[in-house]
Amino acid sequence: MSFDLVFFGGTGDLTWRKLLPALFQAWRHHKLPEGGRILAVARDERSDDEYRAFVRERFAAVESSKRPNDAEFDEFAQLLHYRRMDLSKPEDYAGLKAWLAERGADTALMYLATSPYLFPVICEQLGAAGIVGPHVRIVLEKPLGHDLASAQQINRVVRSVFDERQALRIDHYLGKPAVQNLMALRFGNALFEPLWRREWIANIQITLAESLGVGTRGDYYDRTGALRDMIQNHALQLLTMIAMEPPSSSAADAIRDEKLKVLRSLRPFTPETVARDVVRGQYRAGSVEGQAVPGYLDEVKVPAGSRCETFVALRTEIQNWRWAGVPFYLRTGKRLAEQDAHIVVNFREVPHPIFPGTRRANRLVIKLQPEDGLELHLLAATGGSTNEVLSPVSLDLDFDKAFPSERVGAYERLLLDAIAGRLNLFVRSDEQEQAWRWVEPVLDAWDNDPTGPRPYAAGSWGPAAASALVARDSCAWAEEQ
Ligand code: BG6
Repeated sequence: MSFDLVFFGGTGDLTWRKLLPALFQAWRHHKLPEGGRILAVARDERSDDEYRAFVRERFAAVESSKRPNDAEFDEFAQLLHYRRMDLSKPEDYAGLKAWLAERGADTALMYLATSPYLFPVICEQLGAAGIVGPHVRIVLEKPLGHDLASAQQINRVVRSVFDERQALRIDHYLGKPAVQNLMALRFGNALFEPLWRREWIANIQITLAESLGVGTRGDYYDRTGALRDMIQNHALQLLTMIAMEPPSSSAADAIRDEKLKVLRSLRPFTPETVARDVVRGQYRAGSVEGQAVPGYLDEVKVPAGSRCETFVALRTEIQNWRWAGVPFYLRTGKRLAEQDAHIVVNFREVPHPIFPGTRRANRLVIKLQPEDGLELHLLAATGGSTNEVLSPVSLDLDFDKAFPSERVGAYERLLLDAIAGRLNLFVRSDEQEQAWRWVEPVLDAWDNDPTGPRPYAAGSWGPAAASALVARDSCAWAEEQ
């Protein structure tokens, strides 16, 4: 199957930091279909060879096991092409159309790795130039809007040119192997499903913790904040996968229908519940992994006195029969103690304990980062004493060890799926809009709240109020257990 993959934003960070290295991995592992062309589009004048040299230089920053040697790069670079375009000029799209028609590939993917304010103009111009038809797909990178109205506006323009099945909205967390394993765990095994409900689960926690700060992205981040950057998309997508009903098949819409129902069942926020159930924070100077680091307000391109949140912890509930009354806690932050993304499913304690001492409930931990795996925490008899005291132990599954040669990175997986037209791991417009609908009252309440985010020291786990939030339900975050 031949394909043309066009990157709008072809010299931008995302393209050379994530997308091209992912395509290189797919190519190296012979997963990329033969007969592909990759076209980078940007504003400057450059020849194909100059663009290849630009990419070669940038690849030096890729981690060594994933970096091409010279011979590999030379061969891979033959797939790379470059085209200068002014994204508002119809004649430049006519040129693109002619380039695509030269070969008439089976699939043409338009990957918008640009700032989102360009999405409408690119879609309209593609439509006007006639770069449409069932073989064309458009891939949209986040941020997909800034709020519900801007997301709807983007979706309206996309829909005026492309059909929903041609529009692929990326949430790179859905490409992570651990997330696909979550589906496998829940729906490929009978073991957990009977327990996956309010009768047996006390609460669920989703933590997406980063030790990194905002780096050089201070201007973007300051307009965005942690709620829009991580909760509206990544954390909510994980929550839907954890909480959805079993879909009737693995077809994309069967899964996405169930995810949408979860988003619609989330308890809506009011100003009162935002004040009670949402904690926002902003990092101050501190020390991360032994290194002194500046506070958020001293990062480059962050405006003085910014009230942007770099941390959010919140408590919500899903209003349906399966989950009524079960707290779901979502937490994310920059400059936290560790780079650590995981989901913890805390089961209830045994109804009638017959062993003395430790009374610890079972816990299932789904680890996304830094490595992906599963831990099932149990209580067991040590065999070393006669007093029947139980000790905590865990069954650990490390997916890298279990399937050493099969691992595929998130962007590699999503790009291969986009080329093949597999839609399961892409977000549908109604899911995306519903997620905005749910976070908006939080944004509104913060706009009207003079207190601003709570400070926390870089290298900590966020403001103390985040621990108090879970302690209210007699619960603790994973690192406190
Ligand atoms: C991106 C956010 O979507 O996800 C970044 O914009 C964040 O701020 C990144 O750092 C985290 O992704 P990952 O895969 O490194 O956990």
